[in-house]
Amino acid sequence: MTTKIGILISGRGSNMQSIARACSSGEIPAEVAVVVSNRADAAGLEWASAHGIPTAVLPHTDFADREAHDRAIVARLADAAVDWVCLAGYMRLLSPVLIDAFTNRILNIHPSLLPSFPGLHGQRDAFEYGVAVSGCTVHFVDLELDHGPIVVQRTAPVEGSIDAEALAARILTEEHRAYPEALRRLLTEPWSICGRRVVFDRAAP
Ligand code: GRF
Repeated sequence: MTTKIGILISGRGSNMQSIARACSSGEIPAEVAVVVSNRADAAGLEWASAHGIPTAVLPHTDFADREAHDRAIVARLADAAVDWVCLAGYMRLLSPVLIDAFTNRILNIHPSLLPSFPGLHGQRDAFEYGVAVSGCTVHFVDLELDHGPIVVQRTAPVEGSIDAEALAARILTEEHRAYPEALRRLLTEPWSICGRRVVFDRAAP
């Protein structure tokens, strides 16, 4: 059976597109079964619909609390028989309701080399700090923000970036490589989580 991915977005959805394209090309042995947004105006919804991917809008403002919202999301993901959940610019913290429904099956992408520069402005914070190298991180999601075990990191040099926006563009290019790479490895190679470390073991069965 084909592995099914559910993608949660809140906006542009360019990482969503990179995942969907990698599924279509066969780079990732999976299909995007549903895209869920907490915002009706998320631009990524239009792209998903235009590419035949089912979408759902579940505004967090329609629910009494985070848990109720996450319960509705879990129900929609279950409807689509989703195996893996990818956060792609999803601007909400997850409650245990969602995290426990997909243990070690939720990934996020963050635009810095974690654990440096977590939070909302990873690219700007790295630029202003003056680091020579930044990049992006695909990691498992746990209850702490930008915190779970790291699957893939890709670097982007800061030198030559005239401002934080220019650095963000460089990082985004790497993000579009990193998410498909992380999914491909997790779906095609044996792996385990040892403490905080994601260990890929090609020798294992
Ligand atoms: C990306 O920079 C991602 O790392 C961060 O939010 C941004 C989402 O961009 N979590 P997009 O919606 O995937 O284009």
